Amino acid sequence: MSNTELLVKELVKQHGKTRNSLMAVLQGVVQEERFLSEDAMIAVARELDLAAADVYGTASFYTFLDTVPRGKNIIRVCKTITCHMKGKDEVLLALENMLKIKVGETTHDKRFTLLTANCLGWCHKGPVMLVNDEIYPELTPQKAIEIIEEYAKHH
Ligand code: FES
Repeated sequence: MSNTELLVKELVKQHGKTRNSLMAVLQGVVQEERFLSEDAMIAVARELDLAAADVYGTASFYTFLDTVPRGKNIIRVCKTITCHMKGKDEVLLALENMLKIKVGETTHDKRFTLLTANCLGWCHKGPVMLVNDEIYPELTPQKAIEIIEEYAKHH
């Protein structure tokens, strides 16, 4: 069983196996995984005995709510093993300190949201972050800060 399936099972146990738990379960998944994957939605539908369409409908409404407070610029730091071993924690810490937010949060001025992501396919040049749709490889904490300072000036 995948981690997502286990997470969904756990959330359903916590919130109860009824239609009324749907929102709480979806929120629990987003909190843990930062987004709702198709796999997660299918697992939720199965666990709560609902039609997948029902879950999709609620989820897309919820996703809409969730996307509103996001920043203009979305920073995603790769958290997968190679980038992890090459120092993604230091990069994340430097960005958190600079932006004064934690992973998953958005700055007060709504300009930056800091997230983590699974492997971005640049493992040979980790640690890596994606800012909007631009990839930045071979980061050091200092380099990451300089890149975001540039965005702060121009975006
Ligand atoms: S592990 Fe980070 S890009 Fe692949």
